[in-house]
Amino acid sequence: MSKVYGDGTVAVGGLTLDVPAGELVVLIGPSGCGKSTVLRMINRLIQPTQGRILIDGDDVTDVDPVELRRRIGYVIQNVGLFPHQSIRANVGTVPRLLGWKKDRVRRRADELLELVGLDPARFGKRYPHELSGGQRQRAGVARALAADPSVLLMDEPFSAVDPIVRGKLQEEFLRLQAAVGKTIVLVTHDIDEAVKLGDRIAVLSEGGKLEQYAPPGELLAEPASDMVRDFVGADRGVRRLAVTPLSTVMRKVGPGHDTAGLPSVPDTGTLYDALAAMLTADALHVAVRNRDRVVGTVSRSAIFEAPADAIAR
Ligand SMILES: Nc1ncnc2c1ncn2[C@@H]1O[C@H](COP(=O)(O)OP(=O)(O)OP(=O)(O)O)[C@@H](O)[C@H]1O
Ligand SMILES: [Mg+2]
Repeated sequence: MSKVYGDGTVAVGGLTLDVPAGELVVLIGPSGCGKSTVLRMINRLIQPTQGRILIDGDDVTDVDPVELRRRIGYVIQNVGLFPHQSIRANVGTVPRLLGWKKDRVRRRADELLELVGLDPARFGKRYPHELSGGQRQRAGVARALAADPSVLLMDEPFSAVDPIVRGKLQEEFLRLQAAVGKTIVLVTHDIDEAVKLGDRIAVLSEGGKLEQYAPPGELLAEPASDMVRDFVGADRGVRRLAVTPLSTVMRKVGPGHDTAGLPSVPDTGTLYDALAAMLTADALHVAVRNRDRVVGTVSRSAIFEAPADAIAR
């Protein structure tokens, strides 16, 4: 697809991108490089100058855009809740447009508020200005999910909040994604967020040019251009720890193995989590837990002495 605006600005100069069903693809790049334009072309809020959009093999470039937007959830940059509608009414927008009965819209809205961690009894009747920034962003996510779209577009959905709330929202979102399994295109300009959330990352430069499209580990290990190298940062080596599962260097231990006094991390964690736990506790080892059961240990030296190709790519 490409988009040339009326004044001649080439926002996107010819981008081809294949988003595998069920995956979360992150679009990342500097401000003004065309990320929002790409998202808005996918749901035809902006008409592409050239190109086609295929969903499940169907060409939807000429489908009625209103119809299309019901199949595609969209979380707008800066949330974009309707200020004069309650949170419940905001979340019910698309089901209402689809002509669902009032009761059903309300049940669905409350179910989704619950899902994103907003108590419907407490927040349903409030207006957007009566919520915090992070709560508004959750309401925005709930609204996008309302009609159970197969595709979800999210434009910097977690940007308006402090790093702690942001981290929590990201965790919740990963859990949510594991439960609902949507095909998601998410825009961010935060490389840590991209690495944490993305199955694949598309790095764009000015004019929507695709610099690299790869899973996080590969992007960090082998940046394809100087632009990508700069963008992922000189600390990309450390970032790779955050995409490497513990299993790569974990030593398994049997039941009854004494790990008393050691810090611990869940077995779903990464080498980054293990190293952070050891540094925080001033320990040389960390216990790896599956729920309450210790299944192994990881040592600092195992991380530092791991062969280069053991770290994710
Ligand atoms: N209506 C318009 N007319 C002309 N140029 C536009 C229009 N809308 C956007 N642009 C330009 O298109 C380019 C891409 O804009 P876009 O909003 O897609 O960037 P972005 O990557 O989302 O940036 P950000 O990270 O700041 O949100 C920018 O140079 C912008 O100024
Ligand atoms: Mg944008």
